[in-house]
Amino acid sequence: MGTPKKLEWEEKYSVGVKLIDDQHKMMFATINELLDAVNTSPTKEKLHGIIDQLIKYKKFHFATEERYFEEFNYENTKDHINRHNIFNLKLVEIQKKWGDNNLSLAFDLVDFLEDWLIDHLMTADQEYKECFKAHGLK
Ligand SMILES: [Fe+2]
Ligand SMILES: [Fe+2]
Repeated sequence: MGTPKKLEWEEKYSVGVKLIDDQHKMMFATINELLDAVNTSPTKEKLHGIIDQLIKYKKFHFATEERYFEEFNYENTKDHINRHNIFNLKLVEIQKKWGDNNLSLAFDLVDFLEDWLIDHLMTADQEYKECFKAHGLK
């Protein structure tokens, strides 16, 4: 586990749909905001505020993708939703561990979020690109 760095958007992360790219960019920005906070001895309230925001936003984002999967009868729907759900469970697990030592946990959280998001963008999210394009999304 290294020291997390700020996420930077790259064209290779694009799924070819502006609405979804914008949501992914928003997730990058929120994770970067969390990293900034972690690096400046934040109050508990500040940390919790950003994490709550992140959790609400990822819920909204997953719902956007999953709504299109259903609408387009996307072939990998089950597997993709499963990946989202595993991520949700992992977050709940981290939140449960959240006690007094939340700063070191916050570093681990940023590390986990960055790894997960980049991996998910480059694998599962890339896989729906063709399907979404074929249904006219852009
Ligand atoms: Fe996504
Ligand atoms: Fe996804």
